[in-house]
Amino acid sequence: MSESKRLAGEKAIDYVEDGMVVGVGTGSTVAFFIDALARIRHRIAGAVSSSEQSTQRLRGHGIEVIDLNNAGPLALYVDGADECDPRKHLIKGGGAALTREKIVAEASEKFVCIIDPAKRVDVLGRFPLPIEVIPMARSLVARAIAAQTGGQPVWREGVTTDNGNWLLDVHGLAISDPVAMERELNQIPGVVSVGLFARRPADVVIVGGEPPLVL
Ligand code: A5P
Repeated sequence: MSESKRLAGEKAIDYVEDGMVVGVGTGSTVAFFIDALARIRHRIAGAVSSSEQSTQRLRGHGIEVIDLNNAGPLALYVDGADECDPRKHLIKGGGAALTREKIVAEASEKFVCIIDPAKRVDVLGRFPLPIEVIPMARSLVARAIAAQTGGQPVWREGVTTDNGNWLLDVHGLAISDPVAMERELNQIPGVVSVGLFARRPADVVIVGGEPPLVL
């Protein structure tokens, strides 16, 4: 598993061009990408990070981390996913970084998603769908999600996001229309962001293997 993550992460280096500020996601697959990026750090202008965890790893390698507000639009965002369907719609947020990941993805022209083969599914939803919520709205949002989707929201107790919020993981979904579900769940007051990346799916998916598969 970690070997296929490494192969996916290293393949994503093909998309990095000289002088770029690279958008960087979060997770164990991205960690391999960051390690590979470190080997060409003198060719890039820096990185915009989607989490404290990635920021630490980038800085540990001597890569400059730039505030998104000072970076402008980015050419490239590289991130992992928890599930990926054939249309490159994703579930993300298993690592609790979904909101900043969504922001950096939105700011980027090309989103390259790096996954191991186990992340590929026909229908999203076997992986519980993460939703970041304002803490005071946790129960309200959970009731609304259960009523709207029929899924079972479970509070990820003990986890606070980098933004100071909480997470619900929605179990028991089979998401036939990810774009509609993302839009509808985003309407519930108290929802900060939904771990569905469907309105803005990945542009390229790299599935780790020997050789890596580029979709
Ligand atoms: C972080 O919040 C997630 O969106 C990650 O991108 C996702 O969980 C993938 O993680 P791994 O690369 O560790 O499997």
